[in-house]
Amino acid sequence: MPARKPRMPKVAPAPPYSNGFLSVVDERSGTNYRIAVEDGAIRATDLHQIRSRPEEPGLLSYDPSFANTASCRSAITFIDGDKGILRYRGYPIEELAASKSYLEVAYLLIHGSLPTKSQLADWLYNITHHTMLHENVQKFMDGFHHDAHPMAMMVSTLAALSTFYPDAKNISDEHIRYQQAFRLIAKVPTVAAFAHRHSTGMPYIHPSNDLSYTENFLAMMYRPSWTTQYTPDPVLAKALDTLFVLHADHEQNCSSNAMRAVGSSHADPYSCAAAAAAALYGPLHGGANEQVVRMLQEVGSKERVPQLIRQVKEGRRLLMGFGHRIYKSYDPRARLIQQVAEEVFAVTGRNPLIDVALALENIALSDDYFISRRLYPNVDFYSGIIYQAMGFPTDMFPVLFAIPRMSGWIAQWIEMLQDPEQKIARPRQVYIGPPERHLEVTGVRVPVRRPARTVDTRPRPRTPGPRPAS
Ligand code: CMC
Repeated sequence: MPARKPRMPKVAPAPPYSNGFLSVVDERSGTNYRIAVEDGAIRATDLHQIRSRPEEPGLLSYDPSFANTASCRSAITFIDGDKGILRYRGYPIEELAASKSYLEVAYLLIHGSLPTKSQLADWLYNITHHTMLHENVQKFMDGFHHDAHPMAMMVSTLAALSTFYPDAKNISDEHIRYQQAFRLIAKVPTVAAFAHRHSTGMPYIHPSNDLSYTENFLAMMYRPSWTTQYTPDPVLAKALDTLFVLHADHEQNCSSNAMRAVGSSHADPYSCAAAAAAALYGPLHGGANEQVVRMLQEVGSKERVPQLIRQVKEGRRLLMGFGHRIYKSYDPRARLIQQVAEEVFAVTGRNPLIDVALALENIALSDDYFISRRLYPNVDFYSGIIYQAMGFPTDMFPVLFAIPRMSGWIAQWIEMLQDPEQKIARPRQVYIGPPERHLEVTGVRVPVRRPARTVDTRPRPRTPGPRPAS
């Protein structure tokens, strides 16, 4: 009988941090404190016990912009910014981008595991059958000015959807929560496409249930209104789907943080998503892809790149699409996007801005200003160039970021609601304003607060006085 292969014992991966205690000496009072370290973090509330005098308020941690503060424990997305690693629910982004569709990834983010065949069939059915917008949502969108920015239309329309689904307020009901997940993921491409059609003055094209998620979106964007015959290019639909995978989640970024913060007050998910989309709109976040293309157009040619670099180094402007709070090496999404760009250009022809972008990247990555600050291209550096080649107008770029990020927002929102440690998000502050002072207004008596007096409430002896008139 052949020897059986010895079974390897299951070894749990070594945790990245060792737990233990941190000893802190408060040199103001000479007191020693022992603070627990768990998963590489101390609890900020443990600092509260530290005070130099008993009457003093406890110590706060001061961290504007959350540069070194974890606001939650999360099992959704992992980033190692030094090594340029990004994983959704443990799966490397490279593997997901190569072999999974955006809707499979959306399911993974929200449910924690990839769908089985029947789970995927149900998921696709539910997404496909929630893509329509109520006629009154269309009327609402009609009210926007012709040149309204599509991202501003998206923010407002997401908030308006809250009025169409009042049951969504019941956030403690799991079934209702998942129903809003279908609706939001299904409707966000419809809102995006309607925003575009509105700004071009073209009739809205309703969703088609026989198309894939990205094919349907492309059809709603570009199908001429006089025909029902329109087949989106399969290479472009696939490229867009891959871009959606790359943009689906990115742990506690500005917009996910907004989703969680607003959700922590138990607002409905449409209001939360509107807040998240508003955060994404900013040029430092999802609005950067639009600004990158505007910047590259302004530069115009490789020859003028050094001039732009000079302006950036003089502190006169930012190099849009460069730098990241977490990535201190190459953003893995930017690397994958370069491959997608080649696939798209094979269909659309080469976008000349890519050569300006590549020249810019080459010069920046060999310049000490960028090297010393560890500034690398981020996801937004190349995405806009691809969107432009695919025919999307520049102001649609942040909207194209918002469509796939919806699944990440929902995953973060559900995780936040299920986390028993989460309460209403309410940061503390370090007050630096004036101490108590009083108004001095001439001619007007301002009531002055006096120390409280003890009032004698015992019954007084009756004194003879004038009789009341009868
Ligand atoms: N161009 C020039 N200098 C920069 C840039 C840039 N794009 N980004 C950072 N720096 C400098 C910054 O001036 C600072 O220099 P110094 O130490 O001399 O003061 C240093 O690098 C550290 O930057 P920071 O402002 O502390 O970094 P941050 O983590 O607060 O900001 C960021 C991150 C993404 C907002 C910033 O890098 C930035 O504004 N980039 C341009 C906008 C952009 O591309 N945003 C998209 C981000 S990726 C998509 C997403 O997930 O949102």
